[in-house]
Amino acid sequence: MSWETVDLDRNEGVATITVDRPDRLNAMNVETLEALDEALDEARDARALVLTGAGDDAFVAGADISYMAELDVEQAQAYAELGHHVTDAIETFSCPVIAAVNGYAFGGGCELALAADLRVAAESAVLGQTEIDLGIVPGWGGTQRLSRLVGDERARRLVFFGERVEASEAREMGLVGEVVADDDLDDHVAEMAADLAAKPKHALQAAKESLNQVHESHQSAGLTYERRLWSGLFGTDDQREGMRAFVEDREPDFE
Ligand code: COA
Repeated sequence: MSWETVDLDRNEGVATITVDRPDRLNAMNVETLEALDEALDEARDARALVLTGAGDDAFVAGADISYMAELDVEQAQAYAELGHHVTDAIETFSCPVIAAVNGYAFGGGCELALAADLRVAAESAVLGQTEIDLGIVPGWGGTQRLSRLVGDERARRLVFFGERVEASEAREMGLVGEVVADDDLDDHVAEMAADLAAKPKHALQAAKESLNQVHESHQSAGLTYERRLWSGLFGTDDQREGMRAFVEDREPDFE
């Protein structure tokens, strides 16, 4: 099945969802988030799910900055709610989700990968929570999920500096679980997904659900907090300047 910017493919228990907006490096606008949400729902009977991006350059280069540039606080709140809804749907999806990070995974793109169970990156992939240079903070779960993988100090460095890290460094810090040659990514992930699809479905579901519980009680409060702070930044001079500078292809001039 396919939507304008998202494709869903199924093969023997493995569903593959591809964000397909390569001319914008698969940046997630509202339409794409909604399509991803529908694709996840459509794929709910899968036994393993792969999430990836179309083209050679990007997994997902983030939330759509052109769209965000003019949002007010209320609109930003709705966008954050949609982003949280979709990342929660990935995190709680009925079977394991593997993010095949085939290129840039910045901001909201990195957060989609963080919501997956497992992350495999191509050697040439680059990841980061880069929002700070747009005058905002991660708003689709990054402030809550990042430190679990990389630890508190590393998470702060990534978020405060907006560092862009190559796949090998991402592997060292635990941001991705594995790095493979670019040409091997699809086959390797397909093999992992096929292995998972052959496992006992209910046991796998129970394992995932139980592993997710470790974070649950703290996270829901944290996500509410993140959404409030994130949308509160819309309408600040730095958010306007940071995003307009990106859209106009110039360096931002922050307060
Ligand atoms: N939102 C909207 N559009 C985006 C985008 C985003 N997050 N990321 C890339 N694009 C668009 C670019 O504006 C460009 O559009 P254009 O062809 O109409 O000019 C197109 O995708 C290709 O990107 P471009 O910047 O020309 O490619 P590049 O190879 O020079 O650089 C990146 C790639 C990923 C380094 C750069 O696009 C970038 O920094 N993107 C923003 C990343 C980011 O901060 N994401 C977090 C958002 S929450």
